[in-house]
Amino acid sequence: MTRVAIFWYIGEDVRRDIVEGVENFWINNSMQMVKICFELCNFEANMDTMDTNIPYHIPVMLHETVDGMNVAPGGVYADMTFGGGGHSREILRRMDATARLYSFDQDADAERNIVDDERFTFVRSNFRYLRNWMRYHDVEQLDGVLADLGVSSHQFDEGELGFSFRFDAKLDMRMNRRDGLTAADIVNTYDEERLAEIFYLYGELLNSRKLASVIVKARVQAPIETTGQLYETVKRLFGRDREKKEMAKLFQALRIEVNEEMEALKEMLQSATELLRPGGRLVVLTYHSLEDRLVKNLMKTGNVEGKVEQDIYGTKPSPYRMVGKVAVASREEQEENPRSRSAKLRIGEKR
Ligand SMILES: C[S@@+](CC[C@H](N)C(=O)[O-])C[C@H]1O[C@@H](n2cnc3c(N)ncnc32)[C@H](O)[C@@H]1O
Repeated sequence: MTRVAIFWYIGEDVRRDIVEGVENFWINNSMQMVKICFELCNFEANMDTMDTNIPYHIPVMLHETVDGMNVAPGGVYADMTFGGGGHSREILRRMDATARLYSFDQDADAERNIVDDERFTFVRSNFRYLRNWMRYHDVEQLDGVLADLGVSSHQFDEGELGFSFRFDAKLDMRMNRRDGLTAADIVNTYDEERLAEIFYLYGELLNSRKLASVIVKARVQAPIETTGQLYETVKRLFGRDREKKEMAKLFQALRIEVNEEMEALKEMLQSATELLRPGGRLVVLTYHSLEDRLVKNLMKTGNVEGKVEQDIYGTKPSPYRMVGKVAVASREEQEENPRSRSAKLRIGEKR
């Protein structure tokens, strides 16, 4: 008899149902991303070996974002966060034969989505090196820069990368697995004060000191090497009703530190501001308040700190004119793609 294992991804939760005797199974609920595995007998198979129907990533606010880029004939564009390539493909669709697109991603897995198109160049690198890579490709000015920040659904759903506490895996969290500290390195070697700072600054966790202290005490007994061990170490500090939300913040904080996300974003925003020609667009999708604040500051004042600068004529105008208001995903999109719920879209036009 055919048995069907269904993995329901609902926000942060995974639920597995097993249905027996089902030959054809229709999913009629667009709010849930569903992984279906048809097997004849072995249900305990490793999830990694299962056939998957999950898309690599569903692009958020696809049309609003690419509209913001104002794609024009002969333009030169850069997508800082290629991921599954959804935004890049839409930019390419709107480009003429003479336009060019450079798409960055530091994750080797993203490379499997690259587009076979002579107008397209994939740059396997951290976007903090945008300026150097543009020089390398003889690009002096850009007409549009797009950044869709954070991690892709693939990174989040691929258990072994250690980004999510939904799966027990090595505490890694590196988007670029060629170098850098893993989350386990940080949890096991940073001093208590620094851990507390990270949890507070990047996770906005109010009990950050307590969390750091519990982790430092636990690691004396044995190193914390897996997502499951970290979960077990700290879960008693979170009330049952808030456990998942707080745990997500803790994982977010570690991810930001592992990938130096704030530093990379600042450097990229500065380079983009230098490279954009007058009339060029900076289009950024952010998913939490820390990154959103940097983008907002940059567009308002020209620097990520939000310092209002003065010159002999008075307040220096920002190098950007804001295009429209901050946009969020429509209700329908939020229902269909839960990851769009926290997205904020900001568009600035270089003066
Ligand atoms: C939200 S996903 C982008 C999804 C993409 N817009 C799409 O339509 O599929 C973010 C991607 O950016 C990459 N990324 C994040 N920070 C990066 C950085 N500093 N440099 C290069 N790539 C980065 C991640 O590896 C991930 O694949």
